[in-house]
Amino acid sequence: MPDIIGPLALDGPVASGKSSVGRTLANQLGWVFADTGLMYRAIGYLMVHHDIESNDSKYLLELTHKATIDIRHEKVMLNGENITAHIRSPKIANRASIAAESSEIRELLVEEQRKIAADTNGKIVMVGRDITSIVIPDAPFRFFLDASSSVRAKRRLTEQIEMNPNISISEVKKAIDNRDKRDMERDVSPLTLSKGTRLINTEHLSLNSVVDEIMRLIGNSKTS
Ligand code: C5P
Repeated sequence: MPDIIGPLALDGPVASGKSSVGRTLANQLGWVFADTGLMYRAIGYLMVHHDIESNDSKYLLELTHKATIDIRHEKVMLNGENITAHIRSPKIANRASIAAESSEIRELLVEEQRKIAADTNGKIVMVGRDITSIVIPDAPFRFFLDASSSVRAKRRLTEQIEMNPNISISEVKKAIDNRDKRDMERDVSPLTLSKGTRLINTEHLSLNSVVDEIMRLIGNSKTS
Protein backbone atom coordinates (compact mmCIF):
# COMPACT_ATOMS: atom_id res chain seq x y z
CA MET A 1 0.00 0.00 0.00
CA PRO A 2 1.46 3.44 -0.90
CA ASP A 3 1.95 5.99 1.85
CA ILE A 4 -1.60 6.79 2.86
CA ILE A 5 -2.34 9.51 5.38
CA GLY A 6 -5.57 9.46 7.40
CA PRO A 7 -7.09 9.71 9.87
CA LEU A 8 -9.68 7.08 9.19
CA ALA A 9 -12.90 7.73 11.13
CA LEU A 10 -15.37 4.91 11.68
CA ASP A 11 -18.81 5.16 13.28
CA GLY A 12 -21.74 2.81 13.68
CA PRO A 13 -24.32 1.43 16.12
CA VAL A 14 -23.74 -1.22 18.78
CA ALA A 15 -21.99 -4.38 17.51
CA SER A 16 -21.78 -3.15 13.93
CA GLY A 17 -18.21 -4.46 13.76
CA LYS A 18 -16.47 -1.09 14.23
CA SER A 19 -13.92 -2.28 16.75
CA SER A 20 -12.93 -5.52 14.99
CA VAL A 21 -12.80 -3.80 11.60
CA GLY A 22 -10.99 -0.75 12.98
CA ARG A 23 -8.41 -2.84 14.83
CA THR A 24 -7.68 -4.98 11.76
CA LEU A 25 -7.40 -1.93 9.51
CA ALA A 26 -5.02 -0.24 11.94
CA ASN A 27 -2.88 -3.41 12.03
CA GLN A 28 -2.72 -3.64 8.25
CA LEU A 29 -1.89 0.05 7.87
CA GLY A 30 0.56 0.10 10.77
CA TRP A 31 -1.50 2.86 12.40
CA VAL A 32 -2.71 3.53 15.93
CA PHE A 33 -6.16 2.19 16.83
CA ALA A 34 -8.38 4.17 19.20
CA ASP A 35 -11.75 2.87 20.37
CA THR A 36 -13.43 5.93 21.89
CA GLY A 37 -16.27 3.81 23.34
CA LEU A 38 -13.72 2.72 25.94
CA MET A 39 -13.57 6.28 27.27
CA TYR A 40 -17.34 6.45 27.72
CA ARG A 41 -17.21 3.00 29.33
CA ALA A 42 -14.61 4.34 31.79
CA ILE A 43 -17.13 7.02 32.78
CA GLY A 44 -19.82 4.32 32.98
CA TYR A 45 -17.49 2.46 35.33
CA LEU A 46 -17.15 5.58 37.50
CA MET A 47 -20.95 5.85 37.63
CA VAL A 48 -21.37 2.25 38.75
CA HIS A 49 -18.49 2.49 41.20
CA HIS A 50 -19.86 5.66 42.82
CA ASP A 51 -23.48 4.59 42.51
CA ILE A 52 -24.42 7.49 40.21
CA GLU A 53 -27.40 6.94 37.92
CA SER A 54 -27.94 10.31 36.34
CA ASN A 55 -25.65 12.18 33.97
CA ASP A 56 -26.51 15.61 35.38
CA SER A 57 -24.87 14.73 38.69
CA LYS A 58 -22.40 17.48 39.66
CA TYR A 59 -20.29 14.84 41.36
CA LEU A 60 -20.00 12.85 38.12
CA LEU A 61 -18.85 15.95 36.27
CA GLU A 62 -16.30 16.61 38.98
CA LEU A 63 -15.05 13.01 38.77
CA THR A 64 -14.86 13.25 34.96
CA HIS A 65 -12.90 16.52 35.14
CA LYS A 66 -10.37 14.94 37.48
CA ALA A 67 -10.17 11.58 35.71
CA THR A 68 -7.21 10.50 33.63
CA ILE A 69 -8.27 7.96 31.05
CA ASP A 70 -5.73 6.23 28.86
CA ILE A 71 -7.03 3.93 26.11
CA ARG A 72 -3.74 3.30 24.36
CA HIS A 73 -2.89 -0.29 23.44
CA GLU A 74 -6.56 -1.16 24.02
CA LYS A 75 -6.04 -1.23 27.74
CA VAL A 76 -8.24 1.10 29.76
CA MET A 77 -6.38 2.85 32.54
CA LEU A 78 -8.61 5.00 34.75
CA ASN A 79 -6.71 7.15 37.25
CA GLY A 80 -3.80 4.72 36.97
CA GLU A 81 -5.92 1.61 37.55
CA ASN A 82 -6.30 -1.02 34.83
CA ILE A 83 -10.08 -1.46 34.49
CA THR A 84 -10.03 -3.30 31.13
CA ALA A 85 -11.51 -6.49 32.55
CA HIS A 86 -14.43 -4.66 34.18
CA ILE A 87 -15.97 -2.58 31.41
CA ARG A 88 -17.46 -5.12 29.02
CA SER A 89 -20.69 -5.77 30.92
CA PRO A 90 -24.09 -4.60 29.63
CA LYS A 91 -24.49 -2.59 32.86
CA ILE A 92 -21.36 -0.53 32.17
CA ALA A 93 -22.35 -0.13 28.49
CA ASN A 94 -25.73 1.18 29.56
CA ARG A 95 -24.28 3.70 32.04
CA ALA A 96 -21.74 4.73 29.38
CA SER A 97 -24.55 5.65 27.02
CA ILE A 98 -26.29 7.62 29.79
CA ALA A 99 -23.05 9.53 30.44
CA ALA A 100 -22.74 10.08 26.67
CA GLU A 101 -25.91 12.19 26.66
CA SER A 102 -24.19 14.91 28.69
CA SER A 103 -22.74 17.75 26.63
CA GLU A 104 -20.21 18.60 29.39
CA ILE A 105 -18.88 15.05 29.55
CA ARG A 106 -18.73 14.80 25.75
CA GLU A 107 -16.80 18.07 25.52
CA LEU A 108 -14.11 16.75 27.87
CA LEU A 109 -13.79 13.43 26.07
CA VAL A 110 -13.88 14.90 22.56
CA GLU A 111 -11.02 17.25 23.46
CA GLU A 112 -8.94 14.25 24.56
CA GLN A 113 -9.85 12.30 21.43
CA ARG A 114 -8.80 15.16 19.17
CA LYS A 115 -5.45 15.32 21.00
CA ILE A 116 -4.96 11.57 20.49
CA ALA A 117 -5.69 11.96 16.76
CA ALA A 118 -3.45 15.02 16.39
CA ASP A 119 -0.51 13.19 18.00
CA THR A 120 -0.47 10.53 15.27
CA ASN A 121 -0.01 12.77 12.22
CA GLY A 122 -2.98 11.16 10.54
CA LYS A 123 -1.90 7.59 11.19
CA ILE A 124 -4.87 6.56 13.25
CA VAL A 125 -8.09 4.60 12.93
CA MET A 126 -10.57 6.04 15.43
CA VAL A 127 -13.95 4.42 16.06
CA GLY A 128 -17.07 5.52 17.95
CA ARG A 129 -20.39 7.28 17.38
CA ASP A 130 -19.43 10.88 16.55
CA ILE A 131 -15.97 10.48 15.03
CA THR A 132 -17.07 11.24 11.44
CA SER A 133 -19.44 14.03 12.50
CA ILE A 134 -17.82 15.83 15.46
CA VAL A 135 -14.40 14.55 16.55
CA ILE A 136 -12.58 14.56 13.20
CA PRO A 137 -15.17 15.50 10.56
CA ASP A 138 -12.40 16.57 8.17
CA ALA A 139 -10.76 13.10 8.24
CA PRO A 140 -10.06 12.09 4.63
CA PHE A 141 -11.56 8.64 5.19
CA ARG A 142 -14.95 8.38 6.87
CA PHE A 143 -17.07 5.25 7.09
CA PHE A 144 -20.28 4.23 8.81
CA LEU A 145 -20.89 0.51 9.40
CA ASP A 146 -24.42 -0.78 9.78
CA ALA A 147 -26.43 -4.02 9.90
CA SER A 148 -29.88 -5.02 11.18
CA SER A 149 -30.19 -5.24 14.95
CA SER A 150 -30.99 -8.99 14.71
CA VAL A 151 -27.69 -9.72 13.00
CA ARG A 152 -25.84 -7.45 15.43
CA ALA A 153 -27.53 -9.16 18.38
CA LYS A 154 -26.30 -12.56 17.14
CA ARG A 155 -22.75 -11.20 16.94
CA ARG A 156 -22.94 -9.68 20.43
CA LEU A 157 -24.46 -12.85 21.92
CA THR A 158 -21.40 -14.84 20.86
CA GLU A 159 -19.20 -12.44 22.87
CA GLN A 160 -21.48 -12.13 25.90
CA ILE A 161 -22.30 -15.80 26.36
CA GLU A 162 -18.80 -16.32 27.77
CA MET A 163 -19.52 -13.88 30.62
CA ASN A 164 -23.11 -14.99 31.09
CA PRO A 165 -24.05 -18.47 29.73
CA ASN A 166 -27.76 -17.89 30.54
CA ILE A 167 -28.18 -14.78 28.42
CA SER A 168 -30.79 -14.98 25.63
CA ILE A 169 -30.78 -13.48 22.16
CA SER A 170 -33.94 -11.46 22.94
CA GLU A 171 -32.26 -9.90 26.00
CA VAL A 172 -29.21 -8.94 23.94
CA LYS A 173 -31.36 -7.50 21.14
CA LYS A 174 -33.43 -5.46 23.59
CA ALA A 175 -30.28 -3.98 25.19
CA ILE A 176 -28.88 -3.15 21.73
CA ASP A 177 -32.14 -1.50 20.62
CA ASN A 178 -32.33 0.59 23.82
CA ARG A 179 -28.76 1.77 23.56
CA ASP A 180 -29.03 2.56 19.82
CA LYS A 181 -32.20 4.54 20.44
CA ARG A 182 -30.49 6.59 23.15
CA ASP A 183 -27.39 7.11 20.97
CA MET A 184 -29.41 8.16 17.91
CA GLU A 185 -31.98 10.34 19.64
CA ARG A 186 -29.86 12.30 22.11
CA ASP A 187 -29.66 16.06 21.65
CA VAL A 188 -25.87 16.29 21.56
CA SER A 189 -23.83 14.58 18.87
CA PRO A 190 -26.33 11.84 18.03
CA LEU A 191 -25.14 8.88 15.99
CA THR A 192 -25.89 9.84 12.41
CA LEU A 193 -24.67 9.22 8.88
CA SER A 194 -23.10 12.54 8.04
CA LYS A 195 -22.63 13.97 4.57
CA GLY A 196 -19.59 12.58 2.78
CA THR A 197 -19.38 9.50 5.03
CA ARG A 198 -19.53 6.21 3.19
CA LEU A 199 -22.14 3.73 4.45
CA ILE A 200 -21.16 0.05 4.43
CA ASN A 201 -23.86 -2.50 5.16
CA THR A 202 -22.12 -5.40 6.89
CA GLU A 203 -25.26 -7.58 7.15
CA HIS A 204 -23.92 -10.35 4.92
CA LEU A 205 -20.23 -9.51 5.01
CA SER A 206 -17.45 -11.18 6.95
CA LEU A 207 -14.99 -9.09 8.94
CA ASN A 208 -12.32 -9.67 6.28
CA SER A 209 -14.62 -8.60 3.43
CA VAL A 210 -15.40 -5.32 5.21
CA VAL A 211 -11.70 -4.70 5.85
CA ASP A 212 -10.81 -5.53 2.23
CA GLU A 213 -13.53 -3.21 0.92
CA ILE A 214 -12.32 -0.30 3.06
CA MET A 215 -8.68 -0.96 2.12
CA ARG A 216 -9.71 -0.95 -1.55
CA LEU A 217 -11.65 2.30 -1.15
CA ILE A 218 -8.86 4.15 0.65
CA GLY A 219 -6.25 2.77 -1.75
CA ASN A 220 -8.25 4.14 -4.69
CA SER A 221 -8.87 7.46 -3.04
CA LYS A 222 -7.38 10.62 -4.53
CA THR A 223 -5.68 11.49 -1.26
CA SER A 224 -3.46 8.39 -1.45
O1 C5P B 1 -18.73 1.57 21.40
P1 C5P B 1 -19.19 1.19 22.77
O2 C5P B 1 -20.37 0.27 22.75
O3 C5P B 1 -18.10 0.68 23.63
O4 C5P B 1 -19.67 2.57 23.41
C1 C5P B 1 -20.35 2.64 24.64
C2 C5P B 1 -21.27 3.86 24.61
O5 C5P B 1 -20.47 5.04 24.58
C3 C5P B 1 -22.17 3.98 23.38
O6 C5P B 1 -23.41 3.31 23.53
C4 C5P B 1 -22.36 5.48 23.27
O7 C5P B 1 -23.43 5.93 24.09
C5 C5P B 1 -21.09 6.06 23.83
N1 C5P B 1 -20.18 6.56 22.79
C6 C5P B 1 -20.43 7.81 22.27
N2 C5P B 1 -19.56 8.36 21.40
C7 C5P B 1 -18.46 7.69 21.03
C8 C5P B 1 -18.20 6.40 21.51
C9 C5P B 1 -19.10 5.84 22.39
O8 C5P B 1 -21.45 8.42 22.58
N3 C5P B 1 -17.59 8.29 20.19
